[in-house]
Amino acid sequence: MRIDIVSVIPEILKSPFSNSMIQRAINKKILEIYLHDLRKYGLGKRKKVDDYPYGGGSGMVIRIEPVYRCFHKLFSERDYDEKIFMTPDGNIFSQKYAYEFSCKKNIIILCGRYKGIDQRIRDHLISKEISIGPYVLSGGELAAAVVVEAVTRLLPGVLNNPDSMITDSFQIKSINSPPLYTRPILYKGLSVPKILVSGHHKKIKNWFYEKSILKKKIDS
Ligand code: ADE
Repeated sequence: MRIDIVSVIPEILKSPFSNSMIQRAINKKILEIYLHDLRKYGLGKRKKVDDYPYGGGSGMVIRIEPVYRCFHKLFSERDYDEKIFMTPDGNIFSQKYAYEFSCKKNIIILCGRYKGIDQRIRDHLISKEISIGPYVLSGGELAAAVVVEAVTRLLPGVLNNPDSMITDSFQIKSINSPPLYTRPILYKGLSVPKILVSGHHKKIKNWFYEKSILKKKIDS
């Protein structure tokens, strides 16, 4: 899979992508990530990428030309299955989207900045608008990193233990992950449930199943 990320500050993404799982996917040639600096496609000597909004209002808006130029350079080199725009007013990212994106060959992720981007980009160059949650970040870069991380771990060959992917809490519809324990068996009076060290595999399986259903904590 190939992911092209377009941003005004692509440097933000260098560190998240050098983490072990994503780096391993890149080393194994399962994943290619290319960062593109939108400013390279900016206007004039100062490589301008933003401007004041028509109709007034505070904040700057990303202009269409730099995005159009960058996207069309990429389009001339290969086909893209998805052109994603990271924005707080997009569709809320979920495991379903992670799975959907992980099945694509080439995707572009455009990171927003400033007040927003020219609506014509959203209408004509973007195929999906994605938010990682109902809160506003200064830009879409960290949101893009979240998407890339969730997608990468689904790519065949990335995880050492693919079973853990299947039992991931959100992978199986409506079942949460069960509570997990490891050594020591007793710590400052806090003990591991006896059933887990009983050796009764069937009872343990049922216990995990029951606890998975019951676990969800509801925020009040
Ligand atoms: N850009 C700013 N905030 C964002 C969010 N919550 N999700 C995706 N992109 C964003």
